[in-house]
Amino acid sequence: MLSQSMQDALNEQVRIEGQSSQVYLAMASWAEIQPGINNITSFFYRHSDEERMHMLKLIHFINERGGFAVIPDLKQPQLTFPSISHAFKSLLDHEVAVSESINKLVDIALSEKDYATHNFLQWYVAEQIEEEALARNINDKLELIGDEKSGLYLLDRDIMNVTIGGGPANP
Ligand code: FEO
Repeated sequence: MLSQSMQDALNEQVRIEGQSSQVYLAMASWAEIQPGINNITSFFYRHSDEERMHMLKLIHFINERGGFAVIPDLKQPQLTFPSISHAFKSLLDHEVAVSESINKLVDIALSEKDYATHNFLQWYVAEQIEEEALARNINDKLELIGDEKSGLYLLDRDIMNVTIGGGPANP
């Protein structure tokens, strides 16, 4: 059984994952109307779907452990970006913030000796390592190419093969 404080903290993470899904959905919609970056557009749509999956996994866990998962109210995210680089920088910043919030959940689980929740959260810890590494990698590439059209063409081609998330094990 979850403590009330653990349940509240997990529900806050439900909100954060739901908001992340919205943030990347907005990036996807913006990218879709930019010419020639179809694969980057698909990347953002896939990433948005991944975040929804992260949210659902939390919802099921909370409910299965005797709590009640609260479906959150969400804010409208940033809708447009000055450039592709700005969008990916924002994605990296967002993932770093999500990692911090996961770490806080792990702290709470340990302080409450809630080992079941601690164990559940390890999937998210591993997932965040992957997501941050991926976002850093793309940002490093963008730093090299700037917003040059030829570089963006190559990034758009390469990003087609990038697998996001899915985590260390199937959810
Ligand atoms: Fe669910 Fe990208 O963090």
